[in-house]
Amino acid sequence: MLVSARSFDEYRAMFALTDRDLDQRILDCPGGAASFTAEAGRRGVDAVAVDPEYAHHREQLGVLAEREVRHKHADLVREAPNHVWTWFGDPERYTRLRTASARDFTADIAARPDRYVAGSLPHLPFATRSFDLVLSSHLLFSYGVRLDEDFHLAALFELARVARREVRLFPVLLHSGTTRYGSLERVRERLAGDGVPSRLERVAYEFQPGGDEMLVLSCAGYRPPVRTGPPGPGDPVAGVVDPVRWRHREGA
Ligand SMILES: C[S@@+](CC[C@H](N)C(=O)[O-])C[C@H]1O[C@@H](n2cnc3c(N)ncnc32)[C@H](O)[C@@H]1O
Repeated sequence: MLVSARSFDEYRAMFALTDRDLDQRILDCPGGAASFTAEAGRRGVDAVAVDPEYAHHREQLGVLAEREVRHKHADLVREAPNHVWTWFGDPERYTRLRTASARDFTADIAARPDRYVAGSLPHLPFATRSFDLVLSSHLLFSYGVRLDEDFHLAALFELARVARREVRLFPVLLHSGTTRYGSLERVRERLAGDGVPSRLERVAYEFQPGGDEMLVLSCAGYRPPVRTGPPGPGDPVAGVVDPVRWRHREGA
């Protein structure tokens, strides 16, 4: 699976983020080498990124993503007719923006390491309702061929557990091409049946043809089942301060 480096502006477009949205506590899952959290931090937005790779390759991740963008450039030029260029303009600008984003990530993870938490779906290391808004780009649905429906359901419920208000996911297409994730409606029905209604919303960002929709899960009414048995990842532990809460705005 590729570790990519989308930018704050891409996130803003993919998730139709308003200034009001950005005034909330936000989780980026998976963060990869995206620079959303870096630029969010500069703007005073309370954002955290989580990704399994932060446990292993923290220092090298941005460099690897940058190298990947460089290697991909020739393919991108060759396959340019298969993409929509309204947002990027052309392959050169795509490569320039993604490279800048990877570099920004590299600088920020070194400067603000606490903002980048190692964790893996479907068990995130955060207490229930830790964030107002959760953003999830290019993992669920995108890798729908490799990750099965049970994983998708477990991961979506986990994202809903840590969100107080909404989870936004983009895109709803498989990784390459124009095919929508096949189990999308079935998964939405299961979520709705357990108190997580959802809606599809068109956004002003399209790179894969037809890939201009995000899925929004409404989490305000969701009551996750209380877990029994020994604590698992993400369960609060007596005497241990929630790692997200103290990492965020002091005094919040
Ligand atoms: C294509 S990248 C997307 C990164 C970022 N959201 C972006 O748009 O640039 C996919 C990311 O998913 C992460 N990933 C893979 N398995 C995961 C899991 N089980 N839970 C959370 N993240 C995972 C990978 O490490 C990788 O960084």
